[in-house]
Amino acid sequence: MKLKDKVAIITGSGSGIGKAIALAYAKEGANLILNVYRMGEQEKQELEREMSLYEGDISIIEGDVTSGEFVQELVETALSRFSKIDILVNNAGILTQSLLQDMTESQWDEMMTIDLKSVFLTTRAVVTHMIQQKSGRIINIASQIGQKGGVELSHYAAAKAGVIAFTKSIALELGQHNVTANCIAPGPIETNLVAGIKEDWKEEKKKQLAIPRFGKVEEVAPTAVLLASSPDGNLYTGQTLGPNSGDVMI
Ligand SMILES: NC(=O)c1ccc[n+]([C@@H]2O[C@H](COP(=O)([O-])OP(=O)(O)OC[C@H]3O[C@@H](n4cnc5c(N)ncnc54)[C@H](O)[C@@H]3O)[C@@H](O)[C@H]2O)c1
Repeated sequence: MKLKDKVAIITGSGSGIGKAIALAYAKEGANLILNVYRMGEQEKQELEREMSLYEGDISIIEGDVTSGEFVQELVETALSRFSKIDILVNNAGILTQSLLQDMTESQWDEMMTIDLKSVFLTTRAVVTHMIQQKSGRIINIASQIGQKGGVELSHYAAAKAGVIAFTKSIALELGQHNVTANCIAPGPIETNLVAGIKEDWKEEKKKQLAIPRFGKVEEVAPTAVLLASSPDGNLYTGQTLGPNSGDVMI
C-alpha cells in the first residue's frame, strides 16, 4: 500500500473528485480527515459505510473551508487525532456560469472565496506543521480552464489560474523543507459540478477534446495517489498535471 499510515486531509470530499481521491487514498492505507459540506445525515452515513471497508482511521468533519476559524479547527482535529498531517488535498470548489457583462460582484467574490481563498487558508494552516515535520505533500485541484480560459467562466478561470500560480510560489518556498506542492488540472469530469452546466456548452466542449468524452472521477484520483506517494511523487513540485482528455497540451 502506497500511503500506509499517512495522514491526509481532503476538502470537499463528500462527492465527485474529492470522494474518489478519498477512496483511492483509503485503498492505499491512509488515515483520512474528510471535510464535507452541507451533507445530509443519510449521505454522511453512506460515506462512513463506504469508508469503513478500509482499515485506515477515517473522520468526517462538516464545515466551510472559506472560514479561517473552521480551517484551524480542521487542522487541529487532525493533529490531535494523529499527531501529524502528511498530505493536504485542496479539492473543495464550485462552478457557476455567466458572461462577464452579466456577472455580479457577489458571483465573482463567491468564486474567489471558495475556489481560491480557501486554498490559501488551508495551506497556511498546515504549512508550519509540515515544515517542522520536514515533509509534506500539498495537492491542489485546479482546472484546465485555469490554463486555457472558458466562455462564461472568467471568474472560475481566474480563480483556478490563481491556484496554479499560488502552488508554484509555495513550491519554491517549501521545497527546501521537503514539502512539495502540485496542482491537478482535470478536464471535464462527470460530477455534480458539471451536471449543472448548460448542455450546449458541454456539446461544444466535447468537440474540443482529443479524447471526445468527459472523464470519470476514477480517472483523476490515481494522479492524486501518484503525487502523494514516495518515491513515485518525490520529484514533482510546482507542476500542473492534466488528466484532461487532451483539452490542454503543454
Ligand atoms: N468536474 C469537473 O469537470 C472538474 C474539472 C476541473 C476541475 N474540477 C475541480 O474539482 C474539484 C471538485 O469538483 P467536482 O467536480 O468533484 O464537483 P463536486 O460538486 O462533486 O465537488 C465539489 C465539492 O466541494 C464542496 N464544497 C463546496 N463549497 C465548499 C465549502 N465552502 N467548504 C467545503 N466544501 C465545499 C462540495 O460540498 C462538494 O463536495 C473542484 O475544485 C472543481 O473546480 C472539476
